Amino acid sequence: MEFELRKYSSRHQYPNPSNNSPVHLKKLALYDFKNYEEAIFTFNNKVNCFLGKNGVGKTNILDAIYYLGFTKSALNGVDAQNIKHGKNQFIIKGKFSNEGNESEVICSYAIGSKKAIREDGMDTRKLSDHIGKYPIVLIAPNDIELIWSGGEVRRKFFDSLIAQLDKNYLEHLIIYSNQLKQRNSLLKQSGEKGIDYDLLDTYDQKIIVSGNYIHQKRTEFLTSFLPLFKENYVFLSGGTNEEVDIQYKSDCSGKDFGTLLKNSIRKDIVIQRTSIGIHRDDFVFTLNQFELKRIGSQGQQKSFLIGLKLAEFKSIENVKKVKPLLLLDDIFDKLDDERIHKLVTLVVEGAFGQLFITDARPDRSQGLLKEANVEAELFFIENGKLTAV
Ligand SMILES: Nc1ncnc2c1ncn2[C@@H]1O[C@H](COP(=O)(O)OP(=O)(O)OP(=O)(O)O)[C@@H](O)[C@H]1O
Ligand SMILES: [Mg+2]
Repeated sequence: MEFELRKYSSRHQYPNPSNNSPVHLKKLALYDFKNYEEAIFTFNNKVNCFLGKNGVGKTNILDAIYYLGFTKSALNGVDAQNIKHGKNQFIIKGKFSNEGNESEVICSYAIGSKKAIREDGMDTRKLSDHIGKYPIVLIAPNDIELIWSGGEVRRKFFDSLIAQLDKNYLEHLIIYSNQLKQRNSLLKQSGEKGIDYDLLDTYDQKIIVSGNYIHQKRTEFLTSFLPLFKENYVFLSGGTNEEVDIQYKSDCSGKDFGTLLKNSIRKDIVIQRTSIGIHRDDFVFTLNQFELKRIGSQGQQKSFLIGLKLAEFKSIENVKKVKPLLLLDDIFDKLDDERIHKLVTLVVEGAFGQLFITDARPDRSQGLLKEANVEAELFFIENGKLTAV
């Protein structure tokens, strides 16, 4: 593969080391997590590669790291299914280092009890308080769902990102979703008896406050996110004339949410759910003003997705002043040579902090990293076991 990496080699190996994030994961230990009975990894603070055949457990390691940041799996929301078959508890331990200060995060889940996060021996009371403390960005094959699926998946992407940067946002999301659930169940029960307008009003007051907050934050966030996204898209697509955009579509834009809710009550009673609000918002991805999923080529869609993820990385870095851990799952497999080249360029130039990469073709990753003169730790995996480093 010809990537013209030689031209970078004179200024290879993190030309600006001070620009590297001081936060990194030093050690990871897994106990009865997915197909691992017990595995301990000691990481390089730059690039770590998990290599091995399909199905051996490479992605599972990234998922364990994801648990430490997000308190949940990126792949399977049912914690019990992430316990090794036949066992009743998983434990994931991570040792982080931040400018020489170490901290230990333990995430554990046992059947029949609540999931627990301990940081330096202290239980985290609310899991939501932990999210965002150890920023992580994952680029994975199923990101394509962001383009292909309905608005819910895109809302989740932006919600999870904004929530990492703004604790109040997460609180409002939780309030909004709880109140909406109650409002909808009130609408369902109200059939014959008629509706309890006082109760409806108590739900609506909270829905309006949280809904307005969420709407405002989504609007503001997109304004700062868009330039980062566009810059990355141009970089990845090689500076074409394509015009990419993300439009925030909301019932509430330019309208008073309270009035909208009042005006739709008749309809809501008939259909027995809330027909208007920020739970219906969407972020529409466009290419030259047409919807990306309809007209985008595969390459354009890939650039769009990686552009989104790199902008996610940059947004977190800008706000938190720390580079998130970057998890790249099977990325070389899904990208063409040109985009791989662009990504490796970013690695070489020190755009990222600590990286974790999976690849089912060891020769490819090893070749790429060697050619780019990037220092990397290689972990060879075989059926839930680390065979060699
Ligand atoms: N709860 C569990 N208990 C035991 N094994 C599990 C559990 N959950 C998943 N696995 C196993 O983990 C393996 C998949 O691991 P993973 O997705 O990490 O593979 P991979 O190395 O990333 O493969 P690929 O190269 O195809 O992406 C499968 O063999 C699956 O059966
Ligand atoms: Mg995998």
